[in-house]
Amino acid sequence: MLYKILEQKLQQAVAAALPDAAGAAVLVRPCPDPRFGDYQTNALIALAKARKINPRQLAADVAARLDAGQWCQTVEVAGAGFLNFRLKPSALAQALGEAAGGRHLFFEKTSQPRCVIIDFSSPNVAKPMHVGHIRSTILGDALARILRLLGHHVITDNHMGDWGTQFGKLLVGWKSDLDRERLKADPIAEMERLYKLINARCDSDPRVLENARRELVQLQTGDEENLRLWREMIALSQSQFERVYARLGVKFDYCLGESFYNPMLGKVVDELAERGLAKPSEGAMIVSFEDVPELKNQPALVRKSDGGFNYTTTDLATLLFRWQGGTWSVLPNEIIYVTGAPQQLHFKQFFTVFQRWHPEAHVKLAHVWFGSVLGEDGKPFKTRSGDTVRLEDLLDEAEERALKVVSEKSPELDEPQRREIARVVGLGAIKYADLAQNRQSDYVFSWDKMLALQGNTAPYLLYAYTRIRSIFRKGGRDTAGDPGEFVLNAPEELALARHLLNFGLALDAAAEDYRPNFLCGYLYELAGHFTRFYENCPVLKAEAAARPSRLALCDVTARVLKQGLEVLGIETTEQM
Ligand code: ARG
Repeated sequence: MLYKILEQKLQQAVAAALPDAAGAAVLVRPCPDPRFGDYQTNALIALAKARKINPRQLAADVAARLDAGQWCQTVEVAGAGFLNFRLKPSALAQALGEAAGGRHLFFEKTSQPRCVIIDFSSPNVAKPMHVGHIRSTILGDALARILRLLGHHVITDNHMGDWGTQFGKLLVGWKSDLDRERLKADPIAEMERLYKLINARCDSDPRVLENARRELVQLQTGDEENLRLWREMIALSQSQFERVYARLGVKFDYCLGESFYNPMLGKVVDELAERGLAKPSEGAMIVSFEDVPELKNQPALVRKSDGGFNYTTTDLATLLFRWQGGTWSVLPNEIIYVTGAPQQLHFKQFFTVFQRWHPEAHVKLAHVWFGSVLGEDGKPFKTRSGDTVRLEDLLDEAEERALKVVSEKSPELDEPQRREIARVVGLGAIKYADLAQNRQSDYVFSWDKMLALQGNTAPYLLYAYTRIRSIFRKGGRDTAGDPGEFVLNAPEELALARHLLNFGLALDAAAEDYRPNFLCGYLYELAGHFTRFYENCPVLKAEAAARPSRLALCDVTARVLKQGLEVLGIETTEQM
């Protein structure tokens, strides 16, 4: 990777100019304004400031010692002490030639693979998966794919909510009001109906509430009948979850729900109490954080006054289990949790408790949180009747709507073909609309925007991909073949070539900050560069000297688009 070579060379020059800064991180990034160069570093400014020397002078000293003539046409000091690098066309051509020859695709695997556990999706049993779970599922899956592509060892774990107070009410409803016919037709809807029914009764009748508590205690103490019903509810929910995951192409290595940790909870609280971390408070056990400003007056409950455990206790047990190697016997370097913003306090609390409980644990804990999905009215996304939108209905609608777009665009294709394309486009549109956002912002769910053929959307990227594929179809070949030496002359083809080189940077940035939107931004720009190239540079009709390079440029662009979409969990289609 050229930018890595430049980083290495720069590092050597820095060590020569400033021996005490040997080993300092000097990063090279694309120049924000291509008029000034292809790459840039701002690292020298900070190094100079820390040593109270003139940054421009340091930059000039480093440039004088830099051995980059093989790759760079110019290296210039700019502004406050930046160094700008302009690549030689031959260096660009070489990198493209390597990619065209299949030696790399503008990224490389990490030299320091980590073991990363990703806890995502994690829906709750007996409740429909709603659009809130979509963000976790889509984001978590994209992060897993990106990290894997970069060579990390990723373990995905679906921490299903299969053990909680909702089962008390569900058991009451199941025993008194279950409608077998309805259960057969739509199990989740029937369980949801039962839950709502009993929930409403609990509000008006304390005896029902008491009854629900009793059923829950019986379940928790191992009553055979209640355990059997509970298992049935889980199995019914799981088959719904699996349907959704299959459609979305999401797979989990493990699916250890909350109930799996149930036998470990008592010991967690005992140990916390022994270490003086958990203290009794009004019959409950709590951990308080008086010395942590952001958690002051926000103690975490780890055992309720009725003796029951909660979400925090379960997460502590889960974290201990994972840190110790889980059932997979690999010690994680990092654990990532993907959930909505409202859980931030919960994660801060239990991460803090865990660090105090096991200060020897060197595992990076990250809460990757995200904002809400809003309707076009700016309020939380709901159906017209005010119910939560079910994920499955949403996916159906996406495919239906995409079918209209595809049918308008390509009426000549037969129906099964159009349906298959609509499936790829519709699901891609939903995923991409989610991933292209800064995950911490709320976003407005808009069918028209996500299905638009223009703008930062999946249809736009997929369309760019199909345009490239159609060049090869028209040319009667599948791929470009070896172009020999790359010839790059037109400004649009140079711009496209330079942008291709930065695929690895986009992948690294997305992985580093857990932000797939960096990759989306990169791909969107790539499609833009391709469009400008395609509109200005003939490919199949190019003169003989330029043709092989242009075909190869198209081919590597298509490969980068496909690979980029694939790690976002988005399939591609050959025509649209
Ligand atoms: N079941 C939870 C929910 O639906 C998400 C669980 C996230 N994972 C965790 N380890 N707490 O909100």
